[in-house]
Amino acid sequence: MATTTFFYTLSAILLLSLPSVSNACPPSDRAALLAFRAALKEPYIGIFNSWNGNDCCQNWYGVSCDPETHRVADITLRGVSEDPIFQKAPRTGYMTGSISRSICKLERLSGLTITDWKGISGPIPPCISSLPFLRHLDLVGNKLTGEIPADIGRLSQLTLLNVADNEITGAIPGSLTNLSSLVHLDIRGNKISGAIPINFGKLKKLRRALLSGNMLNGPIPNSISQIYGLADLDLSVNHLSGPIPASLGKMAVLATLNLDGNQISGPIPSTLISSSISILNLSRNAIEGNIPDAFGPRSYFTVIDLSYNKLSGGIPNSISSAMYIGHFDVSHNHLCGPIPAGPPFDHLEASSFVSNDCLCGKPLGAC
Ligand SMILES: *[C@@H]1O[C@H](CO)[C@@H](O)[C@H](O)[C@H]1NC(C)=O
Ligand SMILES: *[C@@H]1O[C@H](CO)[C@@H](O)[C@H](O)[C@H]1NC(C)=O
Repeated sequence: MATTTFFYTLSAILLLSLPSVSNACPPSDRAALLAFRAALKEPYIGIFNSWNGNDCCQNWYGVSCDPETHRVADITLRGVSEDPIFQKAPRTGYMTGSISRSICKLERLSGLTITDWKGISGPIPPCISSLPFLRHLDLVGNKLTGEIPADIGRLSQLTLLNVADNEITGAIPGSLTNLSSLVHLDIRGNKISGAIPINFGKLKKLRRALLSGNMLNGPIPNSISQIYGLADLDLSVNHLSGPIPASLGKMAVLATLNLDGNQISGPIPSTLISSSISILNLSRNAIEGNIPDAFGPRSYFTVIDLSYNKLSGGIPNSISSAMYIGHFDVSHNHLCGPIPAGPPFDHLEASSFVSNDCLCGKPLGAC
């Protein structure tokens, strides 16, 4: 009798405790998170204070789990945040240490966001490319060094790759163009060198390609113009050379094209002037020839900055027929002749036209 009661009690305890056991994150995920935490030091906010207890799916700050598998699915730790614990803190987020390779044991991870901590150094663990479910990798605003992992291209689900504002070196790995799901690429503000892969156009899903402020050299690959949905292409402030591919002006939805601050030569393709582009910055290159006489009633430019090049000839008359010209700058070239009149031009100041060979007329002196 006593034995039966004992077994009843035991099974009741087991039944009661079973669900909570199976709801908790696996010990291996918990151990991986604790090893990740151990490699970081966050002295001001206390974001890791909640990382205790057995269930890492339960109220661990920044950790989320898949509700069915109870595996860690996402880590989001932002150094700049509206979260209440940041309002109590004496200062904005700051963290030192490095990103432990133990993160790669979280084999169900689909999102990793560790942003704006300013002091996290060391490399992006190369093993990250073995996380088959990774969709978002956002590490902007730290002090990461080393290279983009060579086999990053294995991340077939990756839609967002943002490593901007770090100290990453090396070349863009060849495998990167295998990221067939990639929508948003941001590597701005690093020390990345070498050429843009010639087959960059394989990134068929890309909408934003932000590569400015690096040390990229070589030509702008023609293949970029095969990316149908690309809306924003920023290659500014690098060491790119060669001509502007005319095919960039044939792209269906390209709205922003920033190529300023490179060593680009050759003429401005007339396709760029009659395209869907509304922000065009070609400033500070070695572009020569005439400004194409290709403006029309559909030309709508919020920015057209052609300053600091080697342009010659006049400002084309067709520009008076443009629907809208916001910021316009052709200063510091070798242009000559009368400045056209008309509504798109009436608001412009002399600074848009200074330092040319012989431009004249309003807002400069009479011809
Ligand atoms: C890209 O993917 C293809 C097909 O999976 C593979 O054969 C190739 O080696 C990959 N390229 C790189 C540079 O990793
Ligand atoms: C165009 O690029 C130049 C050089 O990088 C920069 O100084 C300028 O502010 C940019 N123009 C506009 C309108 O943003």
